[in-house]
Amino acid sequence: MKRLAILISGRGSNFEAIAASVAGGTIPAEIAVVISNRPAAPGLEIARRLGILSVVIPSKGLDREVYDRLVLDELDRHQVDLVCLAGFMRLLSAQFIRHFPQRILNIHPSLLPAFPGLDAQSQAFEHGVKITGCTVHFVDEHLDAGPIILQSAVPVLDNDTVETLAGRILAEEHRIYPRAIRIVLAGAYEVVGRRVILS
Ligand code: GRF
Repeated sequence: MKRLAILISGRGSNFEAIAASVAGGTIPAEIAVVISNRPAAPGLEIARRLGILSVVIPSKGLDREVYDRLVLDELDRHQVDLVCLAGFMRLLSAQFIRHFPQRILNIHPSLLPAFPGLDAQSQAFEHGVKITGCTVHFVDEHLDAGPIILQSAVPVLDNDTVETLAGRILAEEHRIYPRAIRIVLAGAYEVVGRRVILS
């Protein structure tokens, strides 16, 4: 059985969607640990409710290398196969990424490479694009930049607010993140340059 780690900083709704797919058997794996860098992350409450082990490793005031070493040690302790970033609001060091080559996934609420970084839904809304969406990608040393595994498009409606748009994007995030995890765990893909070819 493959072992997942989920890294969160906040709400944890993507974590909850992944946990539901694990519980329902569509992701053949177990969630070995949930790690939050913020003690007050509401996602920790979800972990408690679901009976999933959660660990807080506060990042405040720590250098990136020092912090990442603490998280790596925790991941190794739980013999984690795949690391899923789910609203984890930190950049990872090269040392961290090298430790899990093509074994770290992230979900981002835009159609990358458009609107990387913070508040992607607002960025897209303000820019006036007619279509945005979400992306699951492998994590490399650049921000929101690694090879793309799955994307889903979401139209921007004339009567949208950022909130209504973000809500529809989130629903798609919850749909495609578990699918991408399943694909990666099954090894049903090949990375050719930047392209992830699904088999
Ligand atoms: C999501 O919009 C995700 O795409 C982004 O951060 C947000 C996390 O939400 N990376 P949640 O904590 O999973 O509810």
